Order: sequence, then C-alpha cells, then structure tokens
Amino acid sequence: MPSQMLGATPQKLMQLGVLISGRGSNLRSIIEATQNGKLDAEVVSVLSNRPDVEGLAHAEAANIPSTVIPHGSFADRESFESALVEHLQRVGADTVALAGFDRIITATLLRAFPNRVVNIHPALLPAFKGLHAQKQALEHGNKITGATVHFVDEEMDHGPIIAQAAVLIEDDDTEATLAARILREEHRLYPQALQLLGSGKLRIDGRTVRGGRVK
Ligand code: GRF
Repeated sequence: MPSQMLGATPQKLMQLGVLISGRGSNLRSIIEATQNGKLDAEVVSVLSNRPDVEGLAHAEAANIPSTVIPHGSFADRESFESALVEHLQRVGADTVALAGFDRIITATLLRAFPNRVVNIHPALLPAFKGLHAQKQALEHGNKITGATVHFVDEEMDHGPIIAQAAVLIEDDDTEATLAARILREEHRLYPQALQLLGSGKLRIDGRTVRGGRVK
C-alpha cells in the first residue's frame, strides 16, 4: 500500500472532537495543551456516552460545548455511531480523539473520519489489550509497561502506533500506583501525539507510522 500523508490543511487548526465515558483526565490534558500553545488544535466538541461523568465538567470549565449521546438509547452500534458521526460532522470536527471512551468502534465512525480517529491505551501495545491493562501487566510480572497512542482500526487496541512511553514497574506497585504513573505519561503523550498528527507530517506505511516522534 502506498504511504499516505495525514493531517489537516496547514492553514486550519485541527478541529478535535473528544469522546469520553468517565473521568476525563486525558481530555483535561488535551484542553490544557490547546490553551498553553503546546497543541495547535481547537476542541470543538466533547461527547460522552454517559451522563453526569466527571469529564463533562472539564469541558464546561473550558467553555467547550459538550453533548451526551447515551449508547443505550440506540438499537445497535451502527445507529449509535451514526449519531456520533452526525454530531461530529455538524460541529466541524476533522479528528476524533478517544479519551477513555468505553465503546467498541466500528466502520461507521472510521469511514467518516479515515485515519483521523485515535486512541490512548495504558500499556505498550500490542501487550495487554482491553480492560485493566495495568492489572494485566502486574499479573504478568512485567518490569516495564507504559502508554500507547494509536490510530483506531476495526480491531480493538490494534491500529498503527503513533507514540509510546515506557513506565518501569516497581516491586511494590499496586494497580493504583502503577495506573497513576502511567496516567502522568498519558497526559504528556496524548497532546504531543495529536500535535504530530495535526502537523500533517505523519504517514502510514503498512503498520508503521513515520514522519515524526514524540520526545
Ligand atoms: C486512561 O487510562 C486511558 O488510557 C484509557 O482509559 C483511561 C481514561 O482515563 N483508555 P481518563 O478518563 O482520561 O481520566
């Protein structure tokens, strides 16, 4: 497959839609990065599939419009995702960042935003996909784990990797202490990975993303 250039047109700020389901600390770090000049993007919408979650308060505090689209109100994944797509297109999003979004993504969203849906996962993929990645790493006896930002494809926690950060596992780590150290890295990594994506310099060669590296 020929490599593809990815990115927003240079004159326009990346228009980000952020999808959350809970705490929203990654959302907060993305918002802060747009405010302090580290991420050239505008968060045009925060979407949650669950009402009353903490993350919605971060959107409100930053005067960013937020919407709740409860997945339970739809007959199937496709109609739920069609509603997400309709909303995201209406608000002018060109890039979709999943930040603790707890629904599986399908072709409906991916087709609407080709190579523009990204996710953060609290492990060094392809290790420890799915839920409780920090617990999985501890139980496996790993000495190193971390965080990964990747393009989303139709397989869970699988698409081409944009950036990773390593975190050492200590003998006395619990799931909570490890998750907290990984989260600090997530908050650093995600805005930088989005900045790379927005730069338009990234290209996907098979599974490999080339054209820039997070420091
Ligand atoms: C993070 O650990 C992220 O990697 C995972 O879900 C968690 C979301 O945390 N996908 P928050 O809602 O951003 O605080």
